[in-house]
Amino acid sequence: MEERKIYLSEAEMPRQWYNIQPDLPKPLPPPLHPGTKQPLGPQDLAPIFPMGLIEQEVSQQRWIDIPEEVLSIYKLWRPTPLCRAKRLEEALKTPARIYYKNESVSPAGSHKPNTAVAQAYYNKKEGVKRLTTETGAGQWGSALAFGCNLFGMECRVYMVKVSYQQKPYRRMLMETWGAAVTPSPSDKTEAGKKILAKDPNSPGSLGIAISEAVEDAVKREDSRYSLGSVLNHVILHQTIVGLETKAQLKKIGADPDILIGCVGGGSNFSGFSFPFFPEKKEGKKIRFIAVEPTACPTLTKGLYRYDYGDTAQIAPIVKMYTLGHNFIPPGIHAGGLRYHGAAPLLCLLYDEGFVEAVAYHQNPVFEAAMLFACTEGTIPAPETAHAIKAAIDEAIKCKERKEEKVIVFNFSGHGHFDLSAYDSFLSKKLEDFEYPEEKIKEALKDLPQV
Ligand SMILES: Cc1ncc(COP(=O)(O)O)c(C=O)c1O
Repeated sequence: MEERKIYLSEAEMPRQWYNIQPDLPKPLPPPLHPGTKQPLGPQDLAPIFPMGLIEQEVSQQRWIDIPEEVLSIYKLWRPTPLCRAKRLEEALKTPARIYYKNESVSPAGSHKPNTAVAQAYYNKKEGVKRLTTETGAGQWGSALAFGCNLFGMECRVYMVKVSYQQKPYRRMLMETWGAAVTPSPSDKTEAGKKILAKDPNSPGSLGIAISEAVEDAVKREDSRYSLGSVLNHVILHQTIVGLETKAQLKKIGADPDILIGCVGGGSNFSGFSFPFFPEKKEGKKIRFIAVEPTACPTLTKGLYRYDYGDTAQIAPIVKMYTLGHNFIPPGIHAGGLRYHGAAPLLCLLYDEGFVEAVAYHQNPVFEAAMLFACTEGTIPAPETAHAIKAAIDEAIKCKERKEEKVIVFNFSGHGHFDLSAYDSFLSKKLEDFEYPEEKIKEALKDLPQV
């Protein structure tokens, strides 16, 4: 009988991250300086990031060693299990085999510590004492709070105000790991003050919180900024997820047909799927499906243009699919998917046709989450539920077409701190938002001229 959970031993854990850059079908367009609009050099990034991470950002080396200290911390929860969702398959009466990589077993409850620990390590190594960051739902903030705590560093988290109000327990988790949490927009930064002057009731957005966190970091010598997604080095760290998945599938002799992940900034989807890219590029038939909310349809409705990474135009300008840096998505419960752009690496592959994208409304996403919770047990994060919805849809297609495909999705996090979202769903208070086409067009008018 096939095992339900496929484990790797600690000795089998990958010891290198996979860098997709040398395997890209064409080079990544360079990031630009927000002021001069000229290509950025490492020195421009030095006030924001440590050199170790800047080097990874531009590295063309395919394999990068994971430092021993980071491996040792990873062992607190890694390798994570690859699970067969047998009871979900049975409920769907699908001939497809559904597997999920369970990243929810980390201390913070998601994939985010894979990069938080690595980023804290590289900063600490270069003498940085304090990290600042933004967080949406609080998953990233709690992961960085955890990472900083392990390396004895201070951590300041700007938390998108709507999530700060919806998710008090995430704030408490961050504070338990020693972080200071500020609802954003705040009056602690010039960027925050400007937004509040225009709209005192602003719900906040990741774009605004990033502006605040970057401004805070560059003002202080002892501080650097840390981003939980989007950047090349973040995706690099997340490839441990896909590398383990690959080894686990190999153990049971399974060949994936479809890989699915939700996309906020793109780190869990990319880290999970990129290690399979070399074979896809060689012609192997594996579909990569990125899933996003209809309320923030970056890939499905955005444009592939240069845009600012943040609202206040402090962060670098990068070429990505974007809804415009002034886009403020509605306060849906998948807070971690409310970002106006997405990772340049992912956007390039999407633009080149290697990745497909779908968007879903939050009510059908929560229906999928409920089915998963009631069959497989674990309550998914609202972000993760987007991937589950797509996996279920693909499994239903397999049933209609009588196809025995292997569907693998990334279970990016649990929803134990998102129960208020489940409460809203169960009491039928969740609204579906289709972001109006005119509003998207309006936000796209402000793209920088480069
Ligand atoms: C559980 C979970 N999944 C997914 C995401 C989306 O981020 P990314 O696209 O970088 O993986 C988040 C972001 O906060 C998250 O908390």
